[in-house]
Amino acid sequence: MVEIDARQRLKILIGGVSLLALGNCGGGGSNTSTPTPTPTPTTPTPVGYQPTSGLFRNQYRNNFKIGSSVQTFHIQNSDPLIDVLKDQFSSMLAEYEMKPDSIAPTEGSFDFSTADTLVQFAEDNGLDMQGHTLLWHQSTPDYFFQGSKDQIKARLQNYVTEVVSRYRDRISVWHVVNEVISDADNGPAGPYRNSNWYQAVGSGEFIDWAFEAARAADPNAQLLINEYNTEFPDKRGRLLQVVQDLLDRNIPIDGVGHQCHLDLNDSAESVFAAIDAVDDLFAGLVNHITELDMSVYSDPGSCWETQTNCDTDYGDNLPESISKQQAQTFRDIFNGLILRPSVETVSFWGISDKTSWLNTIPTTRTNYPLLFDRDVQAKPSFRAIVDRFYEI
Ligand code: XIL
Repeated sequence: MVEIDARQRLKILIGGVSLLALGNCGGGGSNTSTPTPTPTPTTPTPVGYQPTSGLFRNQYRNNFKIGSSVQTFHIQNSDPLIDVLKDQFSSMLAEYEMKPDSIAPTEGSFDFSTADTLVQFAEDNGLDMQGHTLLWHQSTPDYFFQGSKDQIKARLQNYVTEVVSRYRDRISVWHVVNEVISDADNGPAGPYRNSNWYQAVGSGEFIDWAFEAARAADPNAQLLINEYNTEFPDKRGRLLQVVQDLLDRNIPIDGVGHQCHLDLNDSAESVFAAIDAVDDLFAGLVNHITELDMSVYSDPGSCWETQTNCDTDYGDNLPESISKQQAQTFRDIFNGLILRPSVETVSFWGISDKTSWLNTIPTTRTNYPLLFDRDVQAKPSFRAIVDRFYEI
């Protein structure tokens, strides 16, 4: 077996197609022989393209880890996207199975079975693991919000302590609180989302409780506040106000998770503005991109709120121009993120378009937000960020 390092792999890619692609196209036979570079096609054909092992994470190994959300059924069913995860990524997080609904569906009992499966899988495959998420206004049983403020506090502290200590030194980064910032200005709750958590407690104190309990349970884990739409100045302003307040009061927070659920209207610059704002205000805090994807629809807010005026479904016919625009924006984002050392991981919210949450939310529609298509083949968006010579 001839060992091929990352630099050689890149050279092979520059030659037009990957080594494995030669095998898949029937042109190269075995991949144990030295590859013969084929003439560079002007438009590399994606059909049969298989990414070479480790290329993606290796490409960015000096900058940040590359992550993806995963679900246990992908692992149990040996879904092809798991091969891509093992080959190409260096970090993972649970799409659902570490949310309170999954871990503690009834008060007083914990079910770590699926979360354990994911953490073990990460360890077995040399992937870092992030914990998503300890506190959210969704996927959380109602009992969490019941009783007096003291009872709610004790219950939350107990939950965070149980979960974080179970994975102490095994989960390196926790999304301690998720989506606690208000989307609109001047709400009764100030910068906080007027959520079930806020209403049950009557203030944003639950954020303090979660961070303090997490730090006590695993002093080595990085603790993040995770939020969407940090690309937008208004939302970001409220988030930064809350982070400043937490730091002023010595609440143990280490950084910001930027979900980065983008669509085609969003620019790479808006992502950089979010990172730069944290860097400028809070030297020493880290940034993580935690849930990156890019919807091919540019829906108005009403689509998310009431599922009205959503963009029309492309079905199976995504225009090539859209696919290219997505690839270019992903490339621009990665080219800018490598210049920002505070960014420690870039995680995608899934691997294959087939299983993205955006096929059903905000409305049922065929979406194409990720790097691999429905057959788990690399899309132009993937090629654009692993091969700087790839012509979009
Ligand atoms: C979504 C998952 O993708 C779905 O499978 C699940 O049913 C609901 O949650 N922001 C978050 C994620 O922080 O937890 C959400 O994940 C997507 C939006």
